[in-house]
Amino acid sequence: MERTLAIVKPDAVEKGFIGEIIKRYETNGLGIVGMKMLRLSREEAEGFYYVHRERPFFKSLVDFMSSGPVVVLALEGDGAIKKNRDLMGATDPAKAEPGTIRKLFAANIERNAVHGSDSKDSAAFEIAYFFNRLEMMR
Ligand code: CMP
Repeated sequence: MERTLAIVKPDAVEKGFIGEIIKRYETNGLGIVGMKMLRLSREEAEGFYYVHRERPFFKSLVDFMSSGPVVVLALEGDGAIKKNRDLMGATDPAKAEPGTIRKLFAANIERNAVHGSDSKDSAAFEIAYFFNRLEMMR
């Protein structure tokens, strides 16, 4: 079993896609072991995306991620990290495979509906960023 961190981003929350997105996790072998809705401060968004701090899109990304509520989920399943990345599709929805979450629900490369951890190390960091032991169901 492996764990990964998913975020339903402000664009998808605003458009009413929370349920459609979570359904895809649940029906594809990704169990929910932690879940909450919250609104990130600028500082919290900066801390989460610290690895991207030198990128040209960093400020805009932080603005976007702190612009409205998000839903964060800790997901568990066999090969959960890759499985979630396959379900999400490419970062840029224009390049995402048909049927993927980003192809179906994302507007552009920044407002791309969901986040998913890209490695075991980032999954560990990202889950611990949002959930303490009492907030994890296993
Ligand atoms: P995510 O998977 O959450 O990881 C970093 C985020 O930065 C990414 O999704 C997008 O929201 C955003 N991002 C990545 N590349 C670009 C880009 N070229 N321009 C704007 N935003 C980007």
